[in-house]
Amino acid sequence: MRMGTRSSGMALKRIQRDQLRLGMYVHAFDGSWFDHPFWRRGFLIQRESELAAVHGSGIDTLLIDTSKGSDIPAAAGAGASRKRPAQAEAHDPRTEAATQVVNRSKEKVRELFDAARLGKAVESSAVLSVVAEVASEIEHNRRALLRVLRLKSKDEYTYLHSVAVCALMVNLAAQIGLDERTAAKLGTAGLLHDVGKVKIPDEVLNKPGRLTDEEYALAKTHSIEGYRLLVQVEGIPPVALDVCQHHHEKMDGTGYPHGLNGEEISLAARMGAICDVYDALTSNRPYKNAWTPLEAITRMRQWQGHFDPQLLFAFMLSVGLLPVGTVVELRRERLGIVIEGGRRATRPKVLAFYSTRRRRFTRTELTVAGDGRFGDAILAEVDPAKWGIAQERIDHFVRLGVPWV
Ligand SMILES: [Fe+2]
Repeated sequence: MRMGTRSSGMALKRIQRDQLRLGMYVHAFDGSWFDHPFWRRGFLIQRESELAAVHGSGIDTLLIDTSKGSDIPAAAGAGASRKRPAQAEAHDPRTEAATQVVNRSKEKVRELFDAARLGKAVESSAVLSVVAEVASEIEHNRRALLRVLRLKSKDEYTYLHSVAVCALMVNLAAQIGLDERTAAKLGTAGLLHDVGKVKIPDEVLNKPGRLTDEEYALAKTHSIEGYRLLVQVEGIPPVALDVCQHHHEKMDGTGYPHGLNGEEISLAARMGAICDVYDALTSNRPYKNAWTPLEAITRMRQWQGHFDPQLLFAFMLSVGLLPVGTVVELRRERLGIVIEGGRRATRPKVLAFYSTRRRRFTRTELTVAGDGRFGDAILAEVDPAKWGIAQERIDHFVRLGVPWV
């Protein structure tokens, strides 16, 4: 079931953008909507213009299918997906700025965790300075920051994961309209959510393969251990204690440590659960390669009862990632469907096709999804069956694709 490795008849390999050559078969791009110059899935690179479009894009990595096209030279493949942030696209000023923030934050988090490991109190002023810097970068250089944060080598996962969850929390908070101060507290919660892992032996945390029951029981104590560490520290917002303790709760009550249900789980902890899992899935771990953002989101949506679905949708909007075929409610009483974008797409393209006021199909109109200031605001995800719209109809629109192409 692991994506990005091998499935029936395919030979997928993740390569760096610059490794792409004519004659290679592109299976899929990594990254979010922000970065993609085009959205055709599965095609052979036949023209210099196609190659140039990928090389000039913000995509970091992509999957090629070597059963349908040429491969990279043997020596070049290894470690391709382990590029460190410091080496990534240093020539791009936005990426460079984001990389610096990430590296600084990572070092501070490393110090914080090391101190906690030695039984010293977490220094709340250090935490707040990291959160402030990350929040400011989310505001001014969001795409680059989120992109850089996805590239983690296995040994720096713990620290970068904390910074990534911090950034994703601040980003999601802005998406759902929370004010800056609340967003900063949620960022703090994201940064510290796994601090209890300092109490868990590394052999358990980084074990490749299945944990025994005892090991799993031990690993699960990190949420309570984190709470115990933080509760002693002055200046840590209560919401951080809450997220630390409850980011592994699930909506259907099967999570831990308290088996809380639905609304019993705070909004902050529900946000934490989403940001935590998304970042874990899109990172390389000792036991699995990173999934692409789209793969991660697709799987997370399938895990019924795990996440708050409405919040998960808001999260998808916050990272600019809407799977093709998603049916959405647009402003001005319309339904639309997310379809494959055209070249140079920077935002999801949505085909409006239905009037909710008149309850009937309309002439289709292509619109660019945005936050309302730019493009057409997406209000929510919609189940087309509730409007009596058959899935075949949706599939038909997806097949049609972008009308002007
Ligand atoms: Fe955790």
